Amino acid sequence: MEETRVKRRIVLVPVPAQGHVTPMMQLGKALQSIGFSITVVQTQYNRVTSSKDFSDFRFLTIPGSLTDSDLKNLGALQFLLKLNQTCGESFKHCLGQLLKEQDNNDDIACVIYDEYMYFSQAATKEFQLSSIVFSTTSATAFVCRSVLAKVNAEVFLIDIKDPELQDKVFPGLHPLRYKDLPTSAFGPLESLLKLYSEVVNTRTASAVIVNSVSCLESSSLTWLQRELQVPVYPIGPLHIAASAPSSLLEEDRSCIEWLNKLKPSSVVYISLGSLALMETKDMLEMAWGLSNSNQPFLWVIRPGSIPASEWTESLPEEFTKLVSEKGYIVKWAPQMEVLKHPAVGGFWSHCGWNSTLESIGEGIPMICRPFTGDQKVNARYLESVWRIGFQLEGELEKGTVERAVKRLFVDEEGAEMRKRAIGLKEKLEASVRSGGSSFRSLDDFVNSLKMKNEGS
Ligand code: UDX
Repeated sequence: MEETRVKRRIVLVPVPAQGHVTPMMQLGKALQSIGFSITVVQTQYNRVTSSKDFSDFRFLTIPGSLTDSDLKNLGALQFLLKLNQTCGESFKHCLGQLLKEQDNNDDIACVIYDEYMYFSQAATKEFQLSSIVFSTTSATAFVCRSVLAKVNAEVFLIDIKDPELQDKVFPGLHPLRYKDLPTSAFGPLESLLKLYSEVVNTRTASAVIVNSVSCLESSSLTWLQRELQVPVYPIGPLHIAASAPSSLLEEDRSCIEWLNKLKPSSVVYISLGSLALMETKDMLEMAWGLSNSNQPFLWVIRPGSIPASEWTESLPEEFTKLVSEKGYIVKWAPQMEVLKHPAVGGFWSHCGWNSTLESIGEGIPMICRPFTGDQKVNARYLESVWRIGFQLEGELEKGTVERAVKRLFVDEEGAEMRKRAIGLKEKLEASVRSGGSSFRSLDDFVNSLKMKNEGS
């Protein structure tokens, strides 16, 4: 009786970037389905709009927060640091307004903020609300951030550039090598270490939710549980647990019709997520290699992903000729639907954590070409822990591209990876079903809120 009387509100604070918004909205949907009402507090930049999918969510905008042009001028890393410096006060104002409005039927159970929106914590604490960190990356990437936040920066800045160390395992992070560590292409290492030390400082947070699952990252989750000293709830993969279409770009659905005409497991799907960039010369080598491999391919080329080009206009005529026969290009795809499509047999990916989970969730093996940050960590795990993909390292060259595609689609080794991927898909599905590890973890999290509220 007591528990159902109060409809509790949960406030979500996502990072304004696709790879963070998507899992946060999925988390919102998952929590809504078990009876919470959801308020999303967003920045002015990259807002999710209230569509029919989120008609029951409330959306608030933090006034005066940074904009699109700030991101262009500052770069992603400085943008995040500045966002955290500037949003604290206006977030406090937003939260204060919400608390004024609340009544006994709709009070705030907790604030769940993306770990990179750490400004949220001060106001949450001031209003004596429970604050929960949400990590949208892998647990292993979280472990890396925690370790890097504590390294001797002077020594690390030298070591990380040492060519002799690149293939060596980083102490305490087996099987990650120096070259797999989540360094960033978006700003200097010093700024990144500063950001990591802020991010991993869970301050007064009372729990951490991770979009991961114990069957993928058991030892990293154990490490986090031991080191963070607050409960860690692995409740993923959220995209299987809850559908929450929250694309910030318009999806081109024509690719589904194109896929419908192709043989099962024959298509290479290529996408580098929402942030990665690609040089013209690499695009051309890829187009040659893909064309020579004879495998059909669906290629997402995001506007702005080729430096100094709006879209593909800087690519030579040769590129268009190469892709016209066996390929299909879109600006942005309905990725989850694409990966589910029977024609798709492999994913050439930058290995963002969402893409990684979505691919494993469909039993699709991967060609890993990480661009930056945690993608390198995920690629290493895909190759050497889960063994459902392999990395394509070094310069892109048409011969190596062709070989990679054949390795995945023609060779016995690719067939073995596919089998292992299907095995993992089944485990992921079981984990979010009633009684599964992530299902139980979500249940534990919700119970912890109830206990806190009964106690308060
Ligand atoms: C980044 C990091 O790479 C990622 O590891 C981190 O967890 C979040 O920030 P991003 O590079 O965008 O994210 O990659 P990813 O995590 O894979 O997220 C991309 C999302 O966009 C996925 O959910 C994917 O389904 C979606 N997407 C991508 C589309 O819907 N259509 C596309 O054409 C491409």
